[in-house]
Amino acid sequence: MSFTQLPGSASSSPAATPFPKVTMPALAEMKRQGKPISALTAYDYATARLVDEAGIDLVLVGDSLAMVVLGHENTLAITVDEMLHHTRAVRRAVRRALVVADMPFGSYHGPVAESVANAVRFVKEAGAEAVKIEGPRASLVRALTDAEIPVVGHLGLTPQSVHRMGGYRVQARTADAVQQLKADAIAVAEAGAGAIVLEGVPREAAAAITAELAIPTIGIGAGPDCDGQILVFHDMVSLTFAPPAKFVRRYGDAGALIRSAVEHYREDVEHRAFPSDAESYHLPEQARQALEAKPDAVPGVRVLRKA
Ligand code: KIV
Repeated sequence: MSFTQLPGSASSSPAATPFPKVTMPALAEMKRQGKPISALTAYDYATARLVDEAGIDLVLVGDSLAMVVLGHENTLAITVDEMLHHTRAVRRAVRRALVVADMPFGSYHGPVAESVANAVRFVKEAGAEAVKIEGPRASLVRALTDAEIPVVGHLGLTPQSVHRMGGYRVQARTADAVQQLKADAIAVAEAGAGAIVLEGVPREAAAAITAELAIPTIGIGAGPDCDGQILVFHDMVSLTFAPPAKFVRRYGDAGALIRSAVEHYREDVEHRAFPSDAESYHLPEQARQALEAKPDAVPGVRVLRKA
């Protein structure tokens, strides 16, 4: 490769980035410096651009898109090809944040070689900078990092295990379960993961694990003591259709904004208030005069005109 073409270098104009690109090692450095890591999901070009330009450090193309974008009941149905499609869109939008792609259910549960091959597709075909896998799968984390693919682990409430868990339930609610979760987190970290998402676990469990690990923890429903926080974009801006979980804070009401804008547009169309003359294209003056002088010169014009 040419080192004069590095993204963000002075010569990479017009896409030059005046800020340092977030990398996996940069996340570890943020933990060392005690700087909180901000993360959000994004699934398409427009929202990924907004999220990146707002300065979010990590953008996750989460398999939650199966639910919030595609309307599935859970995350299990989404395929590798669908995840790749959305990851490409996000990749095209993001300049600064670290782009992490969720490996979907079934894509890393078979032979290790097949799992690594699926992960390679996210890096090679979609531009992901890391993949996220759910569960305590230390040997797979090792295989992926050996293949130069950075990994984000995901422990606690792992939505792809919904059937085994019997629903979306807070995990690690006993001292033994916390010890097990901590052991799993250590194993995943020692296998080479660059960060671990902790979802749906008691604050005390997340705090203990965060204190134990050198790599950052990123919490969702795991309390304020993690090294970073992540939310599902649609939850955060009220683009969902059910009451939010306890841990969700709504920072805006995009649902209400879009509903009102769409209703207003429909009313304008129905009342012929849209579009206005100013929102219309016009013939150049000469052509307008010629048309007025000979309105029937073009065959078929009469057919288009009202009787
Ligand atoms: O898919 C997703 O959005 C996630 C987050 C909840 C961490 O995995």
